[in-house]
Amino acid sequence: MTNLTASYAVFGNPVEHSKSPDIHQQFAEQTQQAMCYEKKLVPVDAFDSAAQSFFDDGGLGLNITVPFKLAAYHFAAQLTERAKTAGAVNTLIKRDGIIIGDNTDGCGLLRDIRDNLQWPLAQQNILILGAGGAVRGILAPLLAANPQSITIANRSLKKAQTLVEQFQPLADTGSLSCLDYTELNDKYKLIINGTSASLAGQLPAVNSLIYHQAYCYDMMYSKSTTTFLHQAKTSGAQATADGLGMLVEQAAESFYQWRELRPTTKSVIASIRDAM
Ligand code: ATR
Repeated sequence: MTNLTASYAVFGNPVEHSKSPDIHQQFAEQTQQAMCYEKKLVPVDAFDSAAQSFFDDGGLGLNITVPFKLAAYHFAAQLTERAKTAGAVNTLIKRDGIIIGDNTDGCGLLRDIRDNLQWPLAQQNILILGAGGAVRGILAPLLAANPQSITIANRSLKKAQTLVEQFQPLADTGSLSCLDYTELNDKYKLIINGTSASLAGQLPAVNSLIYHQAYCYDMMYSKSTTTFLHQAKTSGAQATADGLGMLVEQAAESFYQWRELRPTTKSVIASIRDAM
């Protein structure tokens, strides 16, 4: 019997707390798409076989979360330009029988900051804390947003230097650089926390004066205020936001790649927030 319901899933480990099934179910209802979306706990050493079985069984698309974004990058038969630049894949799309790897994280962050929050980006000095995979995924779209400068600061400066070297070709001369945490001042209009420090309830060891009057975004999200945003608020931040909007926006972009329909996100962000 032909299965008329299009099949999608998120692969991760852990994956239990993923909000993606809820988000995509709301997108599907909104756009009247007959699709099912599941979460699948994949053993850490079995990504390729699990992904292959999923697509062999008729699956049409996957979201990929920790720790499989690099495995998905290698699994894909073709990569979009933004996946190549990010060096990681968070979305797999089966199109004309070919499995394409895409990365919608950076696009999601940009949509949240620029369109939902309407924070200033162009001609601004932007500070990014962290230099891991999450930051790598957002650099190209942020550079394309025409900032005055982007500074990457990281606990181990070497990793920040490597990112600056890799992304230099996408930046205007001198506009992309890195600094040690101890060298930061208060010139930044927008500060994005791309470290995983909040996960452990920790903070990047920066002087709290950097937050004064800055727009502060944490790529992490949680039910209560994240450690980073708490610090930013108590240090006089202009505005704060966590990464829930980015989560929904990257999902919306994945959905668009799969279904060629763009769901609206505002009500979905609110409903996911309410359910937390
Ligand atoms: P991800 O893919 O989520 O970016 P990652 O590649 O492991 O994960 O990177 C984690 C980032 O968070 C790194 O920038 C890390 O800093 P180091 O490169 O110096 O390790 C940063 N990080 C994690 N815990 C931190 C903490 N307690 N304080 C400051 N930075 C932290």
